[in-house]
Amino acid sequence: MSISQLFIHHFRNITHAQLTLSEQFNFLVGDNGSGKTSFLEAIYMLGHGRAFRHQQSNRIIQHDQPELVLHGKILINGHLHSLGLSKSRSGDNRIKIDGDQGFKIAQLAQLLPIQLITPEGFDLLSGGPKYRRAFLDWGCFHHYPEFFALWNNLRRLIKQRNAALRQSTNYAQLKHWDKELVPIANQVSQIRRQYAENIIPELLSTANDFLPEYQIDCLYNQGWDVQADYAQVLAEHFERDRQLTYTALGPHKADLCLRSRQIPVEDLLSRGQLKLLVCALRLAQGEYYTQQRQQRCLYLIDDFASELDKDKRALLAKRLKQTQAQVFITALNQQQVSYMCDENDKIFYVKSGIISS
Ligand SMILES: Nc1ncnc2c1ncn2[C@@H]1O[C@H](COP(=O)(O)OP(=O)(O)O)[C@@H](O)[C@H]1O
Ligand SMILES: [Mg+2]
Repeated sequence: MSISQLFIHHFRNITHAQLTLSEQFNFLVGDNGSGKTSFLEAIYMLGHGRAFRHQQSNRIIQHDQPELVLHGKILINGHLHSLGLSKSRSGDNRIKIDGDQGFKIAQLAQLLPIQLITPEGFDLLSGGPKYRRAFLDWGCFHHYPEFFALWNNLRRLIKQRNAALRQSTNYAQLKHWDKELVPIANQVSQIRRQYAENIIPELLSTANDFLPEYQIDCLYNQGWDVQADYAQVLAEHFERDRQLTYTALGPHKADLCLRSRQIPVEDLLSRGQLKLLVCALRLAQGEYYTQQRQQRCLYLIDDFASELDKDKRALLAKRLKQTQAQVFITALNQQQVSYMCDENDKIFYVKSGIISS
């Protein structure tokens, strides 16, 4: 899929932009504070209902404006669709797909699979497990239609269980929550395991292309002992959970552990190497999506050049070109990206929120 036209209204410092985009590479070039990341955020928001830097709509809507509006013409399997999202200061989303209203954000997300690579994206490797769970869940969401409802239920049930823990004195008071929780937890874990088994070979092969000097391994951890029965784990850990006032083990603690020579990659690799590894993971995930779904996802790459030397930039550019996907890349100046710019690509110049081609 690709976005052929994008309309942005009152989004951060972008008052109004109407752009015809390249199906391949789109470069956004401009000084610090010109609005390049805001542009990427606008695309991200159209596919997620929220921006990636701030969750609060008040921060994203242009100062002194009541609402922001985004609208995209999207090409999916040769058919043109129209997606619209507006958000008001009170946080209300209004979503329109092909002129009809009343859709949910998950339906936008289904249509706009996005891989985001930002300078803050190191979190995927150096942040807590929630970042790697989000990575896994991106794939589960896009490859297993039943996953989203299960995942929502899991979140609700864990929340309710934690609230119940605070009020209970013996396990019998919690049992009925766990009866509901256990099958959902097992189903979520089962889907994650399947996806992890499929994606890990792809991740490692791309990681090896990018960082051949390291033998990286990757393990899925479901959040509790894989040999143990989750119902039993919950019962056995009741007293500890009660003291902690939260459920310490379960699919809400799942992780993907990346190591080399038994050392977690975040302790071993340099920042540039970590960035390359993040790019490798996101590219591999996007390519696996394309293989399975016969559809491409979008790549948003903020501050392409940061942390990468010339050779690594060339390597990343080559792999991105091979995906034949629509890619959005920001850079401070044209020299950082001009060597990648082919005939069908587009360069946009961003200055004080005004985007021109
Ligand atoms: N809600 C908002 N309304 C108006 N301007 C904003 C808002 N939020 C951020 N900005 C401004 O938008 C500008 C562009 O930021 P950004 O997109 O991060 O720039 P770049 O990525 O080009 O360095 C910043 O100068 C910031 O002050
Ligand atoms: Mg920026």
